[in-house]
Amino acid sequence: MDRKYWERIAPNYNVEIFDVLQNDTSGKIIAAIEQVASKEKTVTDIGCAVGKWVPLLATAFKHVVATDISAINLQLAAEKCKDYSNVEYQRMDMSAYTLTVTPCDVAVCINAILTDNLKKRINFFQSLDICLNNGGDLILVVPSLESKLFANIIANRWNVDDDHKEKIESVEKAYALAKNIKQGVTDIDNVPTKHYLKEELELLLTLEGFEVDRVEKINYTWKTEFNNPPKWLAEPYPWDWMCVAKKK
Ligand SMILES: C[S@@+](CC[C@H](N)C(=O)[O-])C[C@H]1O[C@@H](n2cnc3c(N)ncnc32)[C@H](O)[C@@H]1O
Repeated sequence: MDRKYWERIAPNYNVEIFDVLQNDTSGKIIAAIEQVASKEKTVTDIGCAVGKWVPLLATAFKHVVATDISAINLQLAAEKCKDYSNVEYQRMDMSAYTLTVTPCDVAVCINAILTDNLKKRINFFQSLDICLNNGGDLILVVPSLESKLFANIIANRWNVDDDHKEKIESVEKAYALAKNIKQGVTDIDNVPTKHYLKEELELLLTLEGFEVDRVEKINYTWKTEFNNPPKWLAEPYPWDWMCVAKKK
């Protein structure tokens, strides 16, 4: 999941990539943003992609710095959000070793720290810190490893979507899958993607100098995991983690 990957996906972004804004029917992420929003404050949307969150942020804040590793995504975002004059777009790689950023009062980072590469994730988490002013608020959403394992266990136990027919095509693939899962990296649509434990997320942010206020589930329907979820399958629904934290 490097820059090339995201540039390649960009033209088909809306088909290929899960839409958190649309699927968070609880409105918990919007509520968390509104809780810290103000027309006196600046906000950065880290990994903004095609700008789905930009209209909401531009309306609630004085100024928005929308950033992404993909130039094509930023272009699409700028076109889509051209009516909002208080938004600037910056291409940046949050996993880079050196980074020049405009620190803001609030940072929103929704399903952007997904890389299977540990070094890139370490750099990304360190960069979160420099994107914020002291006392600034972070709203971070990441995939949940607990949720993913829960869905895998259900799929296997009740053979959902013909899970029993799944073939691992080579020894190399089996080795990669086993090595990855120990690090919380598991495939989404055949792309190795980092998933996080709640405790892991709290630890990572605390060590980067954040005070974690809360970690909450953002629930989705079972249709987001399975093509044919069993009719009896209800709560608990699959989820991402949303962490609300403050830079000390
Ligand atoms: C799954 S999309 C999420 C987009 C958006 N936050 C949303 O919720 O609609 C992940 C985005 O993160 C961006 N991204 C991935 N790695 C990045 C990095 N190292 N630095 C900046 N952006 C990155 C990708 O280009 C992609 O647009």
